Amino acid sequence: MKLIEAAGLEKTYAEGATPVRALAGVSLSLEAGDFVAVMGPSGCGKSTLLHCLGGLDRPDAGTVRLGDEELTRLNDEALTLVRRRRIGFVFQFFNLVPVMSALENVALPLTLDGLSDAQAQERAKKWLEKLGLAERMHHLPDQLSGGQQQRVAIARALVTEPVLVLADEPTGNLDSKSADDIARLLRQLSDEHQRTILMVTHDPRIAANARRLVFLKDGVMVDDQRIGAGATSAVRSQLEALS
Ligand SMILES: Nc1ncnc2c1ncn2[C@@H]1O[C@H](COP(=O)(O)OP(=O)(O)O)[C@@H](O)[C@H]1O
Ligand SMILES: [Mg+2]
Repeated sequence: MKLIEAAGLEKTYAEGATPVRALAGVSLSLEAGDFVAVMGPSGCGKSTLLHCLGGLDRPDAGTVRLGDEELTRLNDEALTLVRRRRIGFVFQFFNLVPVMSALENVALPLTLDGLSDAQAQERAKKWLEKLGLAERMHHLPDQLSGGQQQRVAIARALVTEPVLVLADEPTGNLDSKSADDIARLLRQLSDEHQRTILMVTHDPRIAANARRLVFLKDGVMVDDQRIGAGATSAVRSQLEALS
């Protein structure tokens, strides 16, 4: 079953002196439970694609369907609800609220959606425990390592039980060991919790944790392949051929 299906996405940024065509007709669909890494050189449109898939931005042309909803047809209010309830976002710089504890950060999407503090914190606690942060719940973000902060951000992305997780360079601000940990954690969420995940990364080692690789270049999808065990070297040579 297709969980998300994007067809013919186009996006041009016209703000500057010369318009930039960030997406030039991208079609991509993900099966439920898929774990896809989107790779490609800087500026090729990876973040724009993720933003269009997640309803953070609207394409100029093309459609995005999530389950039975066509996101590209929804008004802003309906789109906000889809983002809040059905999609979990993870970003490079964690985007945690600095004055809130890990627990409060993870509970936030639920309280924003109307749950009581007690119920929200109970669910937040479960995810923090699952992600190995039981001892760190009451810490503020700046009392945590980068890897721990990203785990908190992942718990926050998952606490609403989203059908789709979108991660934009989730390891881009981490040392290589923490980066490997986070990539393995995403794989584990895919394997054990059947989450559907799309992760943008330019690091082939990180991408090798996914099951499928999509390559973008100049706003066009130039390759789409399933990967098996030992994919790292295959991924690296793909990337070298493209850059
Ligand atoms: N808000 C924006 N305004 C103008 N140009 C943008 C904007 N966002 C992205 N771009 C341009 O669109 C292209 C694709 O950007 P992006 O999707 O961020 O690429 P990537 O994530 O692969 O590095 C780049 O040339 C970038 O400079
Ligand atoms: Mg980007």
